Amino acid sequence: MANTGAPFLRSVHAEDLPERGWPFAIPAVAALAGGLDLDAAVVMLCGDNGTGKSTIVEALAVELGVNVEGGSRHFRFATRETETPLAEHLVVTRRAGPRPADTFFLRAETYFNVATEVERLGGPLDSYGGFSPHDRSHGEGFLDLVTNRFGPGGLYLLDEPESALSVHGCLALLTVMAELAAAGAQFIVATHSPVLLACPGARIYETGADGIERVDYDRAGPVTLTRGFLADPQRYLHHLLDR
Ligand SMILES: Nc1ncnc2c1ncn2[C@@H]1O[C@H](COP(=O)(O)OP(=O)(O)OP(=O)(O)O)[C@@H](O)[C@H]1O
Ligand SMILES: [Mg+2]
Repeated sequence: MANTGAPFLRSVHAEDLPERGWPFAIPAVAALAGGLDLDAAVVMLCGDNGTGKSTIVEALAVELGVNVEGGSRHFRFATRETETPLAEHLVVTRRAGPRPADTFFLRAETYFNVATEVERLGGPLDSYGGFSPHDRSHGEGFLDLVTNRFGPGGLYLLDEPESALSVHGCLALLTVMAELAAAGAQFIVATHSPVLLACPGARIYETGADGIERVDYDRAGPVTLTRGFLADPQRYLHHLLDR
């Protein structure tokens, strides 16, 4: 596979952010005023629940013209009122050169609606391995999509792709991501998975009370906590359960 010259996105920053109200008071969102370097084939956002990962990825998707509930630029369904007040403040800097052949946003929580839209749009199901996603399990459908639709010229925004996947499935996704990234695709991924964070060359940002911090794999929260737990589950259970 030829390298197409990605990463497509070099950076994003936010302009004229209000200081108060949702989502501007979230430290990671406020930190976007200082800019976030996206100049890597794989950019990961990790950080605890509620620290703003989905808010940021969703606003980026809107800014890129992708359906906010998931899908490509051609998907236009909406099953709920979706507000992304952050999107209008975002300024994306793209690399000069070809545009992505495909831009796709996938959030595990709305994958069901993406599957319904795939059926409604009709057309060949080649991009989904020949199956309607509704006829597959959540994880199977997700891996069908990644394996058959995603390609080396694409820009992919994924929000917690691990939600549908076993550890084995995460390893399969990690393999596809690493291969496509090496061939020119770009991935922006919000994740809690220590497996996915291990993607070669991934730039890892951790969102939290102090905003957004770039961390090495070995310092990323999901990695240190999972390592600590697996090394001695009883010790953690003792603390958590007080016995
Ligand atoms: N529509 C909304 N209105 C007000 N607050 C919201 C709204 N959507 C999300 N929030 C809040 O914004 C914060 C950031 O949410 P976000 O979904 O971006 O977190 P996250 O880092 O993706 O968390 P998780 O790891 O649980 O997916 C949370 O405190 C959440 O409760
Ligand atoms: Mg989220």
